[in-house]
Amino acid sequence: MAIQIKTLDQLKLMRKAGLVVGEILLEMKAAIAVGVTTNQLNEIAVKGLAARKAKPNFLNYHGYPAVICASINNEIVHGIPNDRPFVEGDVVSIDFGAIVEGWHGDSAFSTIVGKADPADQKMLDVCEESMWRGIAAGKVGAKLTDISFAIEQYTNSQGKYGILREYGGHGIGTEMHQEPHVLNFGAAGMGPELKPGLALAIEPMITRGSPKTRVLDDEWTVVSQDGSRGAHFEHSYALLPDGKPFVLTAIDGGKEKLASLGVEISELLS
Ligand code: MF3
Ligand code: CO
Repeated sequence: MAIQIKTLDQLKLMRKAGLVVGEILLEMKAAIAVGVTTNQLNEIAVKGLAARKAKPNFLNYHGYPAVICASINNEIVHGIPNDRPFVEGDVVSIDFGAIVEGWHGDSAFSTIVGKADPADQKMLDVCEESMWRGIAAGKVGAKLTDISFAIEQYTNSQGKYGILREYGGHGIGTEMHQEPHVLNFGAAGMGPELKPGLALAIEPMITRGSPKTRVLDDEWTVVSQDGSRGAHFEHSYALLPDGKPFVLTAIDGGKEKLASLGVEISELLS
């Protein structure tokens, strides 16, 4: 399938979906504390979607049973919400998406419950920064794998982290997962040229150990083979007709963070 190029009007709808996702993720983040469960976070998301007349995109996706993914400690991605209460120091990764008028948003963050192990916090900071470096590298005129290279380069400059090989970012639009697949590692300068109208979800996933993973018997939860803890950050962003990017799932469109990396965001969706 070819890469879907969106019009400005379509990207305005994707911004609506992205804001729904960004706002509800913030609600979930604010609720995370010792004793809270991931089923309770899922309930916040269910109510948040209903309040905004938006639809979930994870629920029933290849049979997935919830509206969020919640992955704790050695679970890296695609964990299914449950009734286990958070304990101090848990690394919690929440992934969530929504559909508004047929257009999808997809975003994720990791955080730590209560007092953090500094090495866990560093891993989260590295993963989040690598996502922003990837987005900053994904400019109009660049090649797709310039994003991949920027993510890997930054991650490796910060210490010994395992970058997951089997999972990556993706195009997003009228489906959650579209072409192209976006690797979080590899040489720069390859793949399609990035053009206005492109929308991508950028989502580095790393561990404090080996990048090797396996899927639990629930057929969803991706855990590290060596038991090391992991982190996952994700934003959906678009390239606008003015040639500038806009981060659809960030409340401020990515303005502040991208400015610090020398990239100006588009005003077309503000
Ligand atoms: N949001 C995930 C991604 O970034 C997909 C979640 S899988 C699902 O690609 F089944 F939960 F939807
Ligand atoms: Co995604």
